[in-house]
Amino acid sequence: MYPPDTPPESLALRVGIAADHGGFELKEYLTGMLRAEGWAVVDFGDEGLREGDDYPDFIVPMAAAVASGNVDRGIGICGSGVGACIAANKVDGVRACRVHDLYSAHQGVEDDHMNVLCLGGRVVLEELAWEIVQTFLSARFSTAERHCRRVSKVMALEEIPFRGIL
Ligand code: RB5
Repeated sequence: MYPPDTPPESLALRVGIAADHGGFELKEYLTGMLRAEGWAVVDFGDEGLREGDDYPDFIVPMAAAVASGNVDRGIGICGSGVGACIAANKVDGVRACRVHDLYSAHQGVEDDHMNVLCLGGRVVLEELAWEIVQTFLSARFSTAERHCRRVSKVMALEEIPFRGIL
């Protein structure tokens, strides 16, 4: 039953963050806030505001770091949060969602074991984004049997060739 060998998450999480030009300013803001609060943040880029950059180039390495355990949680930002979410979810082991409300920011972790939070830099204001991020990072997977059962069924899809065609 899921999660197979997952140790309890510590409170001191390493956080990966990534954004394209649509999310760059919000990434810089959130990175500053996180570091000021003592979080260990790994910035996967983009390293500057470049209008022509492509969100998969930054989101996918960040998502891969979450999947491999090099960071514990991820934050992916693009203009809407949609492209970042789609790209992150292509990486096996990642459970990403675009979240712009506080309820989903903790419930998505508690029930669905969301490990990557996606935000729209052109949609959500800095102050709300910061509250969402803090809520996301403070939340822990419940490990209740019914949630393990459901997440297990989702994660089993990664074992099926041509998944989606059941
Ligand atoms: C880039 O202009 C924009 O399309 C991208 O940041 C994102 O919103 C895609 O989902």
